Amino acid sequence: MSQYQEKATVTRVEQFSEKNYRLTLDCPRIAGCAQPGQFVMLRVGPGKDPLLRRPFSIHQTRADGRLQLYFKVVGRGTDILAQKRPGETLSVFGPLGRGYRLDATSPSVIVGGGLGIAPLLFLVKENCRLKNDCSKDLLVLGAREKIELEPLLADFQAFGLTIHTATDDGSLGHRGFIIELMQSLPLPAGCTVYCCGPEAMMAVVSSLCRSRAIPCQVSVESVMACGMGACLGCSRPAANGGYTHVCLNGPVYDAEELLWES
Ligand SMILES: Cc1cc2nc3c(=O)[nH]c(=O)nc-3n(C[C@H](O)[C@H](O)[C@H](O)COP(=O)(O)OP(=O)(O)OC[C@H]3O[C@@H](n4cnc5c(N)ncnc54)[C@H](O)[C@@H]3O)c2cc1C
Ligand code: FES
Repeated sequence: MSQYQEKATVTRVEQFSEKNYRLTLDCPRIAGCAQPGQFVMLRVGPGKDPLLRRPFSIHQTRADGRLQLYFKVVGRGTDILAQKRPGETLSVFGPLGRGYRLDATSPSVIVGGGLGIAPLLFLVKENCRLKNDCSKDLLVLGAREKIELEPLLADFQAFGLTIHTATDDGSLGHRGFIIELMQSLPLPAGCTVYCCGPEAMMAVVSSLCRSRAIPCQVSVESVMACGMGACLGCSRPAANGGYTHVCLNGPVYDAEELLWES
């Protein structure tokens, strides 16, 4: 699998809420070979400060070589990223990891909570490209409040799948947790679930799928220093009793491959 280190030029910075941003980069080599669910490691500063690259899911790629990231400011690195302006450059390394394995023969139920929405636009796009018609597929998105979901909805709506939303405060869609919404929906027979979101949410989605014998793929996060199997900092317990390295074997797993805390 090809991987590149590119000096990418920022072409657009969109601020969706106080802390949520979308960054568009001109990054043709990585955009040209990335798969949904893969990630990149970004050097957010011009030099060696901060020292470590930061991992981000690929939000979307475009045929013109643009690559988008959707992120939230949580600390120093993401704060620096939020202050980038068009014309500035960033070092991007990727695409990395194992992405979603799409089954174009079964209906898809794509579930994203909070920042877990980040990789799903790319996934929805590829899912609908493979199927031609994705009207039987469901997209279930959850966030704390409307402002975290609404700016992204038009991009998802363009693909024609059925969208359900949940917000903690009821400002958009179902009032409450995404998992309650998912449990209330009739899932299409023979579907596959693709999920990304907070660990607790994915544990419940995995358990729900197991109880209904529905195949489920999840994208998990981990602390990552290198993103390429060198530091072993991203290990997490696997269902077989051993450990798995999220940067190499993930971030997307069959839910059954992982050990979930109950
Ligand atoms: C494979 C992968 C894909 C990711 N994709 C995205 C994405 O698309 N959008 C996005 O906004 N974020 C994503 N993240 C998380 C992102 O990497 C972190 O938010 C970022 O590295 C924080 O950098 P910082 O310097 O701003 O924060 P730091 O100063 O390093 O940390 C600030 C706070 O954030 C917490 N934090 C740091 N990293 C993570 C993490 N991985 N998960 C949860 N909390 C963390 C720290 O514990 C600390 O409390 C992803 C992480 C991984 C492993
Ligand atoms: S992040 Fe270094 S081994 Fe996975």
